[in-house]
Order: sequence, then structure tokens, then C-alpha cells
Amino acid sequence: MIKAEPMLKEGALKDKTIIVTGGGTGLGRSMVKYFLELGANAVICSRKLDVLEQTAKELEDETGGTVLPVACDVRKYNEIEAMLETTLKRFGRVDALVNNAAGNFVSPTERLSHKAFDVVTDIVLKGSYNCTLALGKHWIEQKQEANILNIVTTYAWTGSGYVVPSACAKAGVLAMTRSLASEWAKYGIRSNAIAPGPFPTEGAWTRLFPKQLADKLDPVKRIPVGRFGEHQELANLAAYLVSDYASFVNGEVVTIDGGEWLHGAGEFNSFDQIPQEMWDAMEKQMRGKGQ
Ligand code: HXC
Ligand code: NAP
Repeated sequence: MIKAEPMLKEGALKDKTIIVTGGGTGLGRSMVKYFLELGANAVICSRKLDVLEQTAKELEDETGGTVLPVACDVRKYNEIEAMLETTLKRFGRVDALVNNAAGNFVSPTERLSHKAFDVVTDIVLKGSYNCTLALGKHWIEQKQEANILNIVTTYAWTGSGYVVPSACAKAGVLAMTRSLASEWAKYGIRSNAIAPGPFPTEGAWTRLFPKQLADKLDPVKRIPVGRFGEHQELANLAAYLVSDYASFVNGEVVTIDGGEWLHGAGEFNSFDQIPQEMWDAMEKQMRGKGQ
């Protein structure tokens, strides 16, 4: 097992203020921690203020940075406008938005009510475009350079059964990433995405790999590198993409999944289960046929 280490230069995000939706838990929390270590101020938002306040306190103690926790349901545009106002009052400016908040669970699609479909697409797609629109209007009005980082996943382009609302919503977020990369570059606003494969978090694991499932299907078996992602690996990539080092990176979606989705897609990739001695026999047989 590798031990991922912080990658960017000290001070790489100095004086930047970064809003991370869903920043109180999981991958959001890990990204925020690294942003703080690199000198940024962070604003974390989600529905549960108690969780945000606890995370803010822990991260301030661990890093010496400054975290502003704000209760904000990203489905509600007025709450995002209020969060922006609070951010500006506290820090004077905001430099980057990470659309990380999400809702998801596994279910056969025919078992979903229309409200169950709505709840996921509203958090993921509506939440991401609400934040993007509010921040984008602000930056354009201020004539300020800034950037947006969207956390999607690889089934944004492959699709996936059993998480159909999430797949629809993440596909929309990816389309928004690429569309605005072109449209808003003239205002100095970059737009990129990260597509993570499996990174253990409580939020994802309890909803996507409940114990009965995990006992039957070991998700690590799908990953060619033979392990899950480490949070620092994702944090390294996110910090790079929101930093000025990535000034020429715009409209990109970077996959970080140990080769998982391509492994599932390649016609013959399952042949790595074939033992060596069987290859010897097969080669002999195939060569024989060719003569
Ligand atoms: C079927 C379900 C359901 C389930 C909820 N519903 N869970 N239907 N199967 N497992 C239905 C409810 O019955 C209701 O519909 C509707 O969905 C709304 O449910 P609520 O519980 O009222 O919603 P709420 O309390 O707002 O919770 C939202 C949530 C929840 C999305 C359901 O899981 C949540 O808060 N998630 C936030 C964090 C999260 O999901 N993190 C994981 C991200 S991981 P009815 O019709 O009954 O009213 C991720 C990874 C992707 O995205 C890639 C991995 C490799
Ligand atoms: P997580 O810890 O459950 O994070 C989701 C966050 O979204 C929570 O903090 C939650 O906080 C917040 N949230 C949910 N609904 C919200 C709303 N309406 N308004 C504001 N915030 C809301 O899960 P995670 O695994 O870290 O996921 C983070 C991101 O990575 C997601 O975009 C997910 O799709 C993506 N991802 C994860 C994996 C993985 O393997 N973990 C793989 C691919 C992609 P509240 O409940 O307090 O609102």
C-alpha cells in the first residue's frame, strides 16, 4: 500500500478563499484540509450545521487555517446567495468553488418513487448549477478571475444501473463543466472536473456498498491497481486544479480510479483471470490453426 503524501509547494493556495460544498465530511473534508495546509481560507457548507462546526474546529486545530462553516442547502438558491454574502463579509473575496455535495443510494430504478429520483438529481445537478450560477454572476460582475471544480464520477459518461438518478445528474454536471469552460473563459473563469473511482467514505460506503452487498461483491476486485484511492491522492489533484499552476487547464475531467472504468470496458480485460499454463496451451492451439 502506498502512502500518499502532500504534493504541492507550501503556500500554493495562499490568500485564496475556496468554497467547498459538502465540505464537512468525506472527500470534501479531506480536500478542505489540504487547501488549508496550502494556505487557503475555506468555506464549508451543507445541511447539518453541527457537523460543519465540528469539522471546522477540528481542521482549524489541525492546520492553523481558517474555516467558515455555513448551513446551506444547495438546492435553495436564496441560501447560496446568503452563503456568498457571509463569505464576502468574512473574507472579502472568493476564488474557487468546489461542487462536491451529493446524494446517492443504490436501488433498482423501478423501485424508486419520483421523489427519490428528485432528491438525488436535485442535490447533485440542481445544487451544482445553483452554486455555479450564483458564484459565476458574482465573479463576472466583479471582473475577477476564478475557477470551478466539479466532483463527478466515471459513470457520468458510461452510465450505470442501480444509481440512475446519480448517473443522470453527474452527466449533467460534466456537460456543464465542459460548456462553461468554453463560455466563461472570456471572463477568466476556468471549469474542470474530477472523476473519482472508489475512495472509502462513510457517506458513500453506507449507501452504495451496504454490508450484505460488500460481502458478495468486493469492489476492490474491479480495480486493476488492486486498492481503493487514498484521500490525499484526490486532495493533491483537487489542490492542483484549483491552483494557479493549472491556469491553462480548462474543460478537463481527470479520472482518478486506478484504471477501474477502462478495466470494465475493455473487451478482453477479464482475460487476466486466465492462468499462465492455459495461455501456453491456447497459444499452441491458435498457432496450429494458423499454419
Ligand atoms: C429507495 C429511497 C432510499 C432508498 C431514500 N429514498 N432512500 N428510495 N431506496 N435507499 C426515498 C425516500 O423514500 C423519499 O421518497 C425520497 O427518497 C427522499 O428521501 P428522504 O430520506 O426524505 O431524503 P433526505 O433526508 O433529504 O436524504 C437524501 C438522501 C440521503 C440522498 C436520500 O442518502 C442523503 O442525505 N445523502 C447525502 C450524502 C450521500 O448520499 N453521500 C454519498 C455520496 S457518494 P418518498 O417517495 O418515500 O417520499 C457518491 C459516490 C458515487 O455519490 C460513485 C461511487 C464510486
Ligand atoms: P459524503 O461524505 O456523504 O459527502 C456528501 C456531502 O454532501 C455531505 O457532507 C452532505 O452533508 C452534503 N450534502 C448532501 N445534500 C446536500 C444539500 N442539499 N446541500 C448541501 N450539502 C449537501 O460522501 P463522499 O463520498 O465524500 O462524496 C463526495 C463527492 O465525491 C460526491 O460528489 C460524490 O458523488 C463524489 N464521489 C465519491 C466517491 C467515493 O468513492 N467516495 C466516488 C466518486 C465520486 P449534509 O448531509 O450535512 O447536507
